[in-house]
This record gives sequence, structure tokens and C-alpha cells, in this order.
Amino acid sequence: EVMAQGLSAPSYWKNERGSELFIWSANNGAIQGTFTNHAQGFACQGIPYPASGAIGPTGLYFVVTFAQCNSFTRWVGKTNGSQMPASWMLFYVDKNGKPSKLKGADVFTRVW
Ligand code: BTN
Repeated sequence: EVMAQGLSAPSYWKNERGSELFIWSANNGAIQGTFTNHAQGFACQGIPYPASGAIGPTGLYFVVTFAQCNSFTRWVGKTNGSQMPASWMLFYVDKNGKPSKLKGADVFTRVW
């Protein structure tokens, strides 16, 4: 598969929390893949969810909806070689039913 701005597909990435990102296409700027959460302290673990996003000259984003958790996360980052630092925002509904946000950062490392 062809290379789009440093992101070849298929490619497989893992972040420092142990979560997995499999990108099966990065065509015409659109990213399609699956994300499996393994991070401690979060729910919806071990389930592959669809990931979709876009990549451009200056960076990329992708979004994962964790259907069973009523939440989704958006990552925004850039590839540099085999590393992809990305900041994220997790949107969820708290125990009182209030829509809430949590932000953080992940570093994905390309495995293959
Ligand atoms: C949830 O707990 O509502 C769903 C799982 C969220 C997992 C988050 S997404 C950002 C951070 N990076 C990870 O690899 N996992 C957590």
C-alpha cells in the first residue's frame, strides 16, 4: 500500500498504555483501522473498535467510538518515523449523566 505523509498502511502501532492501533488503509488522506484499548483505569478493554480519521501534511487525527462505554476519544498527532505522539480528548458521560471530557497524551510506536 502507498504511503500518505509518513503513514503507511497496513501498519500496526502500540501506545505506552499497551493499546493497539491497526491501520488498514490511509487512502486519499482518510484513515481506517481498529483500536483496542488496554489502558489501566479505563473501561471497554480488549475490544477492537473501528478507528477513522484523516492525515494531512502537518499531522493526523483519528476517532474511536467505544460503543459499550457511551464514550469516544479523538487523538491528534503526527508521525515522526516510527513514533506517533498524539494528544487526546475522551468524551464520556459521568455517573450523574453529565457529558464530560478528559484529556491526555499517548505515544504510539510502530510495531510493523
Ligand atoms: C472509556 O473508558 O470510556 C473507553 C476507553 C477509553 C480509553 C482511553 S482513550 C485515551 C487513552 N489511551 C488509551 O490507550 N486508552 C485511554
